[in-house]
Amino acid sequence: MAGGVGSRFWPVSKQKFPKQFHDMLGIGKSLLQMTYDRLSATIPVDNILVLTNADYVELVKKQLPLMQDTHIVAEPAMRNTAPCILLAALKIQKMNPDATMIVAPSDHYIEEEHLFNENLETAFDHCSQNRHDLMTLGITPTSPNTGYGYIEFEPSSNQVKKVKQFREKPNLETAKEFLAKGTFLWNAGIFIWHVDGVVSAFAKAQPALTTLFKNGYEIYNTTHENDWLEENYQKAENISVDYAILEKSNHVNVIPAHFSWNDLGTWGSLFDKLEKNSDNNAIVNSSVTAINSSNNIIKTDTNKKVIIQGLENYIVVDEDDVLMIIPKTAEQEIKQIRQSAINKY
Ligand code: GDD
Ligand code: MG
Repeated sequence: MAGGVGSRFWPVSKQKFPKQFHDMLGIGKSLLQMTYDRLSATIPVDNILVLTNADYVELVKKQLPLMQDTHIVAEPAMRNTAPCILLAALKIQKMNPDATMIVAPSDHYIEEEHLFNENLETAFDHCSQNRHDLMTLGITPTSPNTGYGYIEFEPSSNQVKKVKQFREKPNLETAKEFLAKGTFLWNAGIFIWHVDGVVSAFAKAQPALTTLFKNGYEIYNTTHENDWLEENYQKAENISVDYAILEKSNHVNVIPAHFSWNDLGTWGSLFDKLEKNSDNNAIVNSSVTAINSSNNIIKTDTNKKVIIQGLENYIVVDEDDVLMIIPKTAEQEIKQIRQSAINKY
């Protein structure tokens, strides 16, 4: 899935050039390219589909030149992850009715890829034998982060655990309660399931969406697919897969992840991954003089000299015509800050 706007990374991540296409870590590869490389260790590259907004198809082609054009699916409207996942599941089901699939976001950082691959093998084995189970990968939470989905599991000695409840993006108070209980994991946003399992879960929880997309079944994977999507995709409800099926299904399972994971979803999570100087400031592309300042992330134009004094735990980003200076504690509010800035100017 490479069709999000990454609005919590504004002003670097923009509608025209969202974060999955940026080299956020400064390692010479975009997050999308890192995801493709990571998955191609387990998945034959000819089986990979990239679903993205029509506006980003050229960016995907440029960044993943080995992909077949027919495997890059253009969504004519932004409708969040549920429609795109259901469409992908139906397309894959049509190619191979016995397929087990993985859904991966395009903007994560995963260390210890061999451990990730081991977890994937376990998940694929489980889902090919248990066709109605929906598999999630769970991360041990370290803070009451309100940007994630929370998974409560039934304690057991099995590697694959049954899920009692899935709660997408709880408020802070609820997130704190979940953390205190010790039986909750963060949802990594990576899903594994048999095509039958996910299509049935959609049919049960989202009948209208399912009817809409099943109407196109005969046309998927043919030369008429784009025309069909042009006409119908915008009719889909705008909803994420987490709210659409995971919160509603009794078939959710979780494998506690063995790898280190960072969703690179916010400036704070990028700060955690970047190298810091002796004052614990993470400085990207900047010529910065920092006096009595620590724990800041500063990303500015290379040509601009930046001086900060007495600044702690701030995000300072200078990108094109926007300069944003906000405390790290406000990072979840950037979506709204961006919206009000767009409305104002
Ligand atoms: N193709 C397509 N179309 N992709 C999309 C769309 C869309 O309309 N909207 C979002 N995506 C892509 C994003 O680019 C990203 O790679 C992925 O889908 C997930 O979307 P996000 O918008 O980043 O979701 P989130 O971070 O708020 O929440 C999800 O991920 C968290 C972990 O990072 C949820 O699954 C949470 O439960 C989870 O904790
Ligand atoms: Mg995300």
